[in-house]
Amino acid sequence: MDRWFVLIGLLYGTFGMGFGIWMGIHQRFDQAHLHAHINLIGFASMILFGLLYRSFPALAASRLALAHFLVYNIGAAVFLAGLPLAQSGQTIALAVIGSMMVVLGMLIFLANYLMNGFGAKAA
Ligand code: HEM
Ligand code: HEM
Repeated sequence: MDRWFVLIGLLYGTFGMGFGIWMGIHQRFDQAHLHAHINLIGFASMILFGLLYRSFPALAASRLALAHFLVYNIGAAVFLAGLPLAQSGQTIALAVIGSMMVVLGMLIFLANYLMNGFGAKAA
């Protein structure tokens, strides 16, 4: 689980930085929110999840880890795809559904941490 989160985070990070360079070159600062959230939800958060699963192996052993991984990742993709659609006024549906899933993923991780991490010794 830790490796998958780190790998996907690094892929988002690579893409997000490339997107940032493209945005700067083409003066497309209207895309800054998308760039920011690709890097923050895609790269920063996922790398942190990966490191936390590595620091607290009991979290990765729980079945909640897979639920967190799937819900957060599908949610992130849906949210990031929906963000430009919401900004351009086409539909907010994907951004709403995606952001709910991102938060749900976070709640699953919180539950896992409270049950299997908080109070336990770190590796
Ligand atoms: C090669 C790497 C990167 C480049 C070239 C880049 C470029 C940019 C540019 C051109 C902007 C728009 C600034 C503006 O609107 O005035 C921006 C905004 C932003 N970037 Fe990046 N960025 C990079 C990496 C990152 C990373 C790694 C993160 C987060 C982990 C990040 C987070 C943000 C955030 C949060 C904003 C929005 C700031 C605001 O709304 O004022 N960026 N970036
Ligand atoms: C469900 C997930 C999230 C939703 C729905 C969300 C929504 C938003 C919204 C509506 C804005 C304001 C945009 C504006 O000023 O017009 C914003 C800005 C921002 N968010 Fe998020 N956010 C989410 C997750 C995160 C996470 C996880 C981080 C950091 C790790 C983050 C960092 C930021 C930053 C730095 C800004 C200011 C830069 C910008 O204006 O683009 N967000 N977010």
